[in-house]
Amino acid sequence: MYVTLKEILKNTRRDKFAVGAFNIHCLEMVPSMIEAAKAKNSPIILQVSPTTCKYIGASLLSAVVKELAKETDINVTLHLDHAKDFNTIKEAVDNGFSSVMIDASALPLEENIKKTKEVVKYAAQHGVSVEAELGTIGGTEEGVALNNGKIKYTRPQDAVKFIEATGIDALAIAIGTSHGQYKSKAKLRFDILKDIYNVTNIPLVLHGGTGVSEEDLKKCISAGISKVNIGTELNIAWVTAAKESFGKAKVNDSCRDLLIPANYAVQKVIEHKIDVLGSSNRK
Ligand code: 13P
Repeated sequence: MYVTLKEILKNTRRDKFAVGAFNIHCLEMVPSMIEAAKAKNSPIILQVSPTTCKYIGASLLSAVVKELAKETDINVTLHLDHAKDFNTIKEAVDNGFSSVMIDASALPLEENIKKTKEVVKYAAQHGVSVEAELGTIGGTEEGVALNNGKIKYTRPQDAVKFIEATGIDALAIAIGTSHGQYKSKAKLRFDILKDIYNVTNIPLVLHGGTGVSEEDLKKCISAGISKVNIGTELNIAWVTAAKESFGKAKVNDSCRDLLIPANYAVQKVIEHKIDVLGSSNRK
């Protein structure tokens, strides 16, 4: 079934589990991602960066995901990740995405609110969910997190104000994770997460899932994280398997056969993550 982010996350806070939001890097990956969720009887969020969305095409991507979702009774959401401008979001909404993220977190709070409200208004007219971000999630250099000084942690009082003012469906918070971190592990501020959880009532989102240990992922979920974004780890699994199969191949081998191990590697990573996030058998 094809559902919105609001729908797919609706019991997460109450039942203390998280739904994985897995970044699609190419269209080939998509069927294996859904297969993983089916094998675990788990809901799944498939998400794309604006760059991947442009590469595949919003309408093709949405058609493929909707078609695969229609054939199964597990819940599937298609989400646009980290869009910074209204036109990119409009294109996703107009092409049938069921969720979008507006990331205006680099702007001062009042401007972030203003930009986010504009997106919420448009998305609501089309029955589409909205995630937004407060604070800044760090970046990486060569897979290692840049120093924590670059992370602006989310302030609980700002989260309350932001949620009330914007009417968003999910909030991405900064508690120490970084995007693209795979050679080191994040040091998380569970105290900040707990404080934010206690004063909010919508699903909270953890970005940069690749750099978080399994133990910390579980701690985040019991402290109230509802959605965990995982991107780099899937890319690493896919490229590692593809390098091996293409490396051994003859030029007239079918590229289809060479891609199968790469897609399967992604499936196995997602199945494992679903177990860690506790979303199996929750459809
Ligand atoms: P990683 O690539 O670090 O897993 O982060 C993914 C993400 O947060 C996408 O928004």
